[in-house]
Formats: sequence, structure tokens, C-alpha cells
Amino acid sequence: MKVLITRRIPENGINILKSKFEVILNKENRNLTHKEIKALSRDVFGIVSMVSDRIDQEIIENAKNLKIIANYGVGINNVDIEAATKKGILFTNTPDVLTQATAELGFALIISLARNITAADRFVREGKFVGFDPVLFLGKELYEKTIGIIGMGRIGSQIARMSRFGFNMRVIYYNRNRNPYDNLVDAERVELKELLKRSDVIVVSAPLNEKSKHMLSYDEFKLMKNDAIFVNIGRGEIVNTDALIDKAQKNPDFKVGLDVYENEPNFDKRLLNLKNCILLPHIGSATFKAREKMAEIVAENIVKVYEGECPDFAVNGGQLCNAKD
Ligand code: DGY
Repeated sequence: MKVLITRRIPENGINILKSKFEVILNKENRNLTHKEIKALSRDVFGIVSMVSDRIDQEIIENAKNLKIIANYGVGINNVDIEAATKKGILFTNTPDVLTQATAELGFALIISLARNITAADRFVREGKFVGFDPVLFLGKELYEKTIGIIGMGRIGSQIARMSRFGFNMRVIYYNRNRNPYDNLVDAERVELKELLKRSDVIVVSAPLNEKSKHMLSYDEFKLMKNDAIFVNIGRGEIVNTDALIDKAQKNPDFKVGLDVYENEPNFDKRLLNLKNCILLPHIGSATFKAREKMAEIVAENIVKVYEGECPDFAVNGGQLCNAKD
């Protein structure tokens, strides 16, 4: 039996899979193309896919022996779940283990933007530091400011806790449903418009789906404060990049931190010219701890399915696992 791993993951996961399967591992420092994934998955039992791989109906129908797609990440927008479910293929993701890592990265962006960290670092490297200056790189304190969280799931909730208990911030959030634990951080669920108007800091930590695609466009950026901090650690497609660039170009005090982009990795190169912007290469979950745990989960899930068990975090498990019971 074969398993395809579309991009090198930590060794612990590869070793678990090697003990049971013939592993086809992409050892190159690049993502596989759609065509390559299709060809390599033709007769595999399982695929370990990256959140950047498009696993669509074409790939799913071509993979005749496929029984599980184990996505290396929490996001699920890259896989055609309906097509997989129709063919009885389980689809899993890796929530929980990356929550803290991703929330911390979100906060790293917020603090860096509030205190001009990356600009100040460049300043020193360029030899411009000539002594203490009382008005050099004045930033903002987060203490008692309002943070608006768009998407109050696991990661959003963790950011809420950090904001409330670390910085005594007022937490407001926009979410389809009320978060049952929102009282623990005194968080208030509000409409999107209200969140955009009131927030000093806005964090996007929502999943991408038909409803959230381009949820933030020109009208929404207009409502945001001109000196707000805007961070996206969810998915690039939630934001209309043209509208974001327009807001940031017109308002130098509007600060932007992005870990995700529309059309990754071919992001809009105009972002590179924005001084009020920090750009990261989709590293939300990139800690040793999270990535090793994610590797373990995807590998063990494939082994579980091979041994006839229901895997953990099966997104379509309700339909497929329960149906088997
Ligand atoms: C995920 O797991 O979906 C994240 O985007 C990784 O940072």
C-alpha cells in the first residue's frame, strides 16, 4: 500500500507511515503541481496533503484506491469534501495542536505593528541608530484597547484570552454563532459593521468558505479606523486585497500584518511597497511542537483507517465513520 506525502513534514510522521506503507515523499523544496499530485496519487491508499494543495474532484476520482486524505493543517478549504465523501474517502485535519502556535503568531504581528518592531530592526541594520531619541518609533500600547476578532473558533478564542488577560483589552467578536465561553473573557458578540467601527485591532481568524470569501472589501475597510491594526491569520481570500491595499496606501497609520494571501504563493506584489505592512510566509502553525504533533496526527490517522478504525478529526466522519458502525 502506498501513501503520498506532498511536501516534507517532520520525520516523526514520515517514520510512522514508513513502518506500514510505501511512502512517496516529495523531497523538493516546492509544492507539487495539481498534475503531479494527480499522477502520484493514482494508486495510493492515503494522501497527506498541505493546505496549499488543491485536492479536487479530478484528483479524487482519479485515485482509485484512496481511502483517506489527511490534511496537514486546520484549514479545510483546499479539499473537495463533497467529492471525497461521495467516494467514501475520509477527510481529516489537525485542529487543537496548532491553536496556541497560530494565536501566538497573530499576537506577534499585533505587537510588532503596535511597536514598529520590523521597521526599527531595519533602521538599526541600516546604520541609522545614532543614540537614544525621545521621539523615535513611537508606537501604541494595547492596554485597554478594543480588539475585534472575526472568527471566534479555537484560534480566535485563544487570541481573545491573550488580549483580555495579557493586555486587559476589551474583546468584541463577529461569529456565526455565539461562542459559549465568551463570558470567560467578557467578550461581546457584535455585528460585523460594529466590530469594524469600534476596533483598534482587528484580527481575522475565520475559515474560508462561500460566505467568508471577500467578506472584507471596500465598504468594510472604509468603516475601519484609519489608524487601526489589521491582522489576517485566517485565509487570504477572506479579504479583497485591492481594498486592503487601497486602505493602507491612503492611511499610513493603518497597520497591516499578513500571514496569508489571496492566490498563495503569487501574492499581490504591491504589498511589498507598503511600509505599514508586515508580510509573513504562512507560518501560523510553524512551531516545532505544533508541526510535530500535526505530523503525528496525519500519520496515525492514515494508519487508523488502514486498520479499520475511525480516524481522529474526521471532518466527514459523521457521514462515513458513523455510517459504518
Ligand atoms: C492551517 O493549518 O490551516 C493554517 O493555515 C496553517 O498555518
